[in-house]
Amino acid sequence: MKAQAAGAGKDIEYYARALRAPRIGDGYRPLADTAREAGWTHEEYLAAVLSREVAEREASGSALRIKAARFPGHKMLEDFNFEHQPAADRSLIAHLGTGVFLEEAKNVVLLGPPGTGKTHLAVGIATRAAQAGHRVLFDSATGWVARLAEAHARGQLAAELAKLRRYKLLVIDEVGYIPFDQDSANLFFQLVASRYERASLILTSNLAFSRWADVFGDATIASAMIDRIVRHAEVINLTGNSYRLQGRIKPQNLAH
Ligand SMILES: Nc1ncnc2c1ncn2[C@@H]1O[C@H](COP(=O)(O)OP(=O)(O)OP(=O)(O)O)[C@@H](O)[C@H]1O
Ligand SMILES: [Mg+2]
Repeated sequence: MKAQAAGAGKDIEYYARALRAPRIGDGYRPLADTAREAGWTHEEYLAAVLSREVAEREASGSALRIKAARFPGHKMLEDFNFEHQPAADRSLIAHLGTGVFLEEAKNVVLLGPPGTGKTHLAVGIATRAAQAGHRVLFDSATGWVARLAEAHARGQLAAELAKLRRYKLLVIDEVGYIPFDQDSANLFFQLVASRYERASLILTSNLAFSRWADVFGDATIASAMIDRIVRHAEVINLTGNSYRLQGRIKPQNLAH
């Protein structure tokens, strides 16, 4: 019996390698002991072995997608304090965390003053999307424009935009902190237009839409862009004082 088990074990290890499922090779033995002790059926044992492989595959897949997303830091929706930011509707954010908006190629726009949680919520929602199996990429608005300018210089702008459409979600952080010149504004417009009704964006900005004309240096481009962004979007206006300054500086002293 022992010798038979050892022989079967070698076979299982061989098959696990052939299937590129190494966790089956590592885990079948302790699970078999548990199964014997607990009197599992053959089906229950097989299900336990397979579900472990699948769970660990999914976990490592989502860890890889989160790493590939190039988030600036680790921010989870679970860590967001909704009491401090009543303008963020908890149930809306939870809904966005399910990733349903991605299936409809909808956008999310987070507006508000510095430190009010825009980047935190953007990364939190995008992390959920990555965990759900979607490809996600994060950059600042200036980062995106630099990437597109470089592709444009190589004559590869259309190819780059097509490549980016394979990402279900792009996060464009900090629209408005640095104004764009005409070429950059055009590139940014093309990014927004290329995703319209096809793939989602999350944008964050410290400026209300009414001030975007200043950022893009052109009211026509700004309004054409806002049109495309908000046609299918959740726009969330965050308010209040910076969370960064909590307990450090009183806001009324900031001006001095
Ligand atoms: N409601 C909140 N609950 C928990 N942490 C928060 C909350 N709001 C902000 N923070 C934290 O405060 C810091 C600043 O928030 P965040 O980076 O999201 O601000 P922001 O709105 O993107 O600001 P900026 O416009 O300057 O980029 C982060 O470390 C973030 O995790
Ligand atoms: Mg930010």
